[in-house]
Amino acid sequence: MPLVLEQVSYTYRSHEGNVEALKEISLQLREGGFLGIIGHTGSGKSTLLQLMCGLFSPTAGRILLDGADIALKQTRRRLHTEVGMAFQYPEHQLFAPTVAQDVGFSARNAGMDSEEVEQRVRRALKLVGLDYERFATLSPFDLSGGEKRRVALAGVIATEPRVLILDEPTAGLDPAGRLGMLATIERFCQLGMSIVMVSHDMDDIARFAQEVLVLRDGSCVMQGHPSEVFSHTDELRAINLGVPKSEEYAASLRKSGLPLPQGILTLNALADAIVAAVRPEQGADHGKGDCRADGRADCRADGRADGRADGREAARGL
Ligand SMILES: Nc1ncnc2c1ncn2[C@@H]1O[C@H](COP(=O)(O)OP(=O)(O)OP(=O)(O)O)[C@@H](O)[C@H]1O
Ligand SMILES: [Mg+2]
Repeated sequence: MPLVLEQVSYTYRSHEGNVEALKEISLQLREGGFLGIIGHTGSGKSTLLQLMCGLFSPTAGRILLDGADIALKQTRRRLHTEVGMAFQYPEHQLFAPTVAQDVGFSARNAGMDSEEVEQRVRRALKLVGLDYERFATLSPFDLSGGEKRRVALAGVIATEPRVLILDEPTAGLDPAGRLGMLATIERFCQLGMSIVMVSHDMDDIARFAQEVLVLRDGSCVMQGHPSEVFSHTDELRAINLGVPKSEEYAASLRKSGLPLPQGILTLNALADAIVAAVRPEQGADHGKGDCRADGRADCRADGRADGRADGREAARGL
């Protein structure tokens, strides 16, 4: 189990007063797992991610990396190499004159020789879907918004972390940038990386996450498989959160009397459920195909078929 949080609380202290940002959060990130975190603005999502990557220390509770408390100096050092985090709007931190220099910065800083750095930059750019030959010598500041963000993400994965933490990776991107970023995340899933992602987009969470944690005012109010969490439409709406479009449409069809199951996570799954409800005989066959039609199930299955549980190993194998 790469990351475990036990009853973790965090309070920001300042002259203006204290803000209790997180209250007794417990969670587990499995090897190769994908944990989605959702919550209204100010609910504590970014604070939680920053605790997981060791930027702050919990005010109470413990964070364990492979069973060892990250409060210990040795474990903390390991955390910094094994857990990579892309902050909200990571492109704001681009600074180097060329893409290759920016992406290779952390690897160079970690003492790797120039050949190793170049290999890592090549692998990282390939993983985020950018061609090395075309982009390496360009200035990161001359790229589109989506490309800039993928360059910033390449800089995080160039150190080949085992756990990747993403804070709203698609926020503010245009449709093309968004598609590029989703394809990148899909590749990370296929490699079996352990991922934690915060998003305000419920479709993205439904597509990738195996487990969802819902925050409200710093407390965890729901936790479980996305099909279970997203079946609580009314409770989520009460805290200003939506559900995936597929579940939204399914809810209105249910109101019209169509007997659809709860927790429909993708439009493909909805189409299959409608067919099954309207023509049970035909629907049974469609239902069998649903797993493969569902993006999330698809990418998980690929990741496992690979037999690659460790993101770094997988990234090296590219
Ligand atoms: N440096 C800080 N000092 C004091 N309070 C802070 C600080 N950073 C965040 N907070 C407060 O902690 C709470 C949680 O903030 P956080 O940024 O974790 O929320 P969030 O869920 O990521 O919000 P958003 O969706 O807007 O990104 C908020 O009440 C916020 O105002
Ligand atoms: Mg935030």
